[in-house]
Amino acid sequence: MTTTNQVAIEAVGLVKKYGSTTALAGVDLSVPTGTVLGVLGPNGAGKTTAVRILGTLLRPDSGHATVGGYDVVREAGKVRSIIGLTGQYASVDEDMSGRRNLIMIGRLLGYSRPQARAKANELLERFELVDAGDRIAKTYSGGMRRRLDLASSLVGNPSILYLDEPTTGLDPHARNGVWETIRNLVLDGTTVLLTTQYLEEADALADSIVVFDKGSVVANGRPAELKAQAGKQSLDVRPAEPAHLERVAAIVAESTGTRPSVDVVNTLVSVPVSDGSSMPVVVRRLDEAGIAVTELSLRLPSLDEVFLALTGHTAEEKKSDAVLEGASR
Ligand SMILES: Nc1ncnc2c1ncn2[C@@H]1O[C@H](COP(=O)(O)OP(=O)(O)OP(=O)(O)O)[C@@H](O)[C@H]1O
Ligand SMILES: [Mg+2]
Repeated sequence: MTTTNQVAIEAVGLVKKYGSTTALAGVDLSVPTGTVLGVLGPNGAGKTTAVRILGTLLRPDSGHATVGGYDVVREAGKVRSIIGLTGQYASVDEDMSGRRNLIMIGRLLGYSRPQARAKANELLERFELVDAGDRIAKTYSGGMRRRLDLASSLVGNPSILYLDEPTTGLDPHARNGVWETIRNLVLDGTTVLLTTQYLEEADALADSIVVFDKGSVVANGRPAELKAQAGKQSLDVRPAEPAHLERVAAIVAESTGTRPSVDVVNTLVSVPVSDGSSMPVVVRRLDEAGIAVTELSLRLPSLDEVFLALTGHTAEEKKSDAVLEGASR
């Protein structure tokens, strides 16, 4: 029982500076209760800063925010009682076992010893950590540690959960596991704010997305709206035999009504499409022509392509800027 607010998280004009660095330059956010907001942005965009302010770990220089109707500065304690936060970097005590970590958090949250133990068992089970539960966390793999992080943010049954890059560094299997967990939490009514550098992740999980760049929101909308803004999808076909390139190009042109580009070096035929509806036609015609392919895919714009479309520069350029800044210090 926390709140009957329709809006779980509301931020208006958040500004945060670190010396001469403006981490947040006036950010507005609104997350309806029971939905997932994806905060997408490259390194240094301000994602973690926003999460830390909304999680009461950092005060904004100006602007304000409410979480579950409580002010993050004036009612920080109340905010803390309804949120869970999985930080970008592991927050568990590495010299204790996974189970001890979870029990300790439960005790800190006021659970009795048996309650804390029961909660730890439940979470170890849910995150497939039962076998590793009694090993010290230092010995966990990256994926196991990430799962333990996530589990520890759920000990208090938060109704609002912040996940700061929950799947960075995970292999596809572990990542799918985390996605599944997030989906189940949302089905149970949890509101989630997650940051990510992967468009695919925001697309898979979020009801709406805000794109941060240099401390500002440069775009927002539903995933489909953003992708539409970011440009069309690309249908890629790679024939098994390089000699078939021209015929594949002809089939793709006929099936989509658009002349494809042909990359001879990589044996790849690509054509921009607005949706996947021409895919079955291409498959059928290739089959009729007896042409084998090693790749046939509908590719969404990459994060770099989205950034290029939305901000006029790529995430890569930002990274190399950062390297240059670092080098000049
Ligand atoms: N404690 C700090 N002291 C000084 N500068 C900071 C501090 N924390 C963040 N910054 C700066 O504020 C900006 C935003 O950082 P933030 O960590 O919020 O970005 P981010 O979007 O989370 O990036 P990443 O994807 O790398 O995690 C960056 O320029 C960063 O260098
Ligand atoms: Mg961060």
